[in-house]
Amino acid sequence: MFSKEEIIKILSSNDDSILKKADEIRKQYVGDSIHLRGLIEFSNYCNRTCYYCGLRYENKNIERYRLSPEDITNTAKYAKSLGLKTIVLQSGEDHYYSTSILCKIIEEIKKLDVAITLSIGEKTYNEYKAYKDAGADRYLLRIETTDKKLYNTLHPNMSFENRLECLYNLKSLGYETGTGCLVGLPEQTIESLADDILFFKELDADMIGIGPFIPHPNTPLGNYKIDLKKNFDLSIKVMALTRILLKNINIPATTAMETINKNGQIIALQSGANVIMPNITNDEYKKQYNIYPNKQNQDIILTKEKISSIGRTISNNKGFRYK
Ligand code: 5AD
Repeated sequence: MFSKEEIIKILSSNDDSILKKADEIRKQYVGDSIHLRGLIEFSNYCNRTCYYCGLRYENKNIERYRLSPEDITNTAKYAKSLGLKTIVLQSGEDHYYSTSILCKIIEEIKKLDVAITLSIGEKTYNEYKAYKDAGADRYLLRIETTDKKLYNTLHPNMSFENRLECLYNLKSLGYETGTGCLVGLPEQTIESLADDILFFKELDADMIGIGPFIPHPNTPLGNYKIDLKKNFDLSIKVMALTRILLKNINIPATTAMETINKNGQIIALQSGANVIMPNITNDEYKKQYNIYPNKQNQDIILTKEKISSIGRTISNNKGFRYK
């Protein structure tokens, strides 16, 4: 177990030997097979105004869309036909879909004998409970940053405490709970990234998604200058340390990593990651799901080729956290 000081030292140094170490731990605890999760981005409406995100309510320069429940379940059927065993339903925070509509969608998709992951933001305990009772298995809600001051600056009208409460509610309801952070945010320190990693451990998260921050032109952080390479390398290191500390969890090679480095997916898979989330949203819609510019949606066929090119295999199970 690393102390905070050790994590800071590793993140600040040029030594990247922990990437190899993370790859070894990945192999030892979760093996060579990679879980594919079929991502459906079913609505890009959002009532939040997060400073970094292109889906923010105040961005009027975006064509908004919503999939009907029928379109969502049909996309899930398509995913099933591709052999995918987990469906991830993601959207902005969109109140249009009531609890009963969401529960019906979950129940329909559950009939396909797949695992369901939700990634639809902050909800009440009772809403989370209703989705769980309807058959949802997992939930993704990134903490984004554990630096409370930075969190509050980036998320107007939101509360860090509520985000934490959501995560602990999800855990207590028996969801496999995923969280994660952005790397390279303005004013973010190495110390706070170390706190993020220690928080993942404290929560005992089942899944962790880590991505480099990529400025979106139509957001308040649009002109923020970042060193993409530095940001990529740092996010890979944060991910590797997370693997070393949490051992048997599921960690995706994230789309943001692939977006800023053309070998991002492979580098991530060889530095601790064991999951990929191919985007199966209809092409017409996925180009509107512009969280950040040039989002490199992970294509299922290319992904499969990459996996075999590095001697890894595709999992034949639903990919719950290993015991
Ligand atoms: N750059 C990188 N990742 C982003 N996200 C939102 N905006 C950006 C951005 N500009 C991430 C957040 C969110 C996830 C769905 O997308 O971490 O949780």
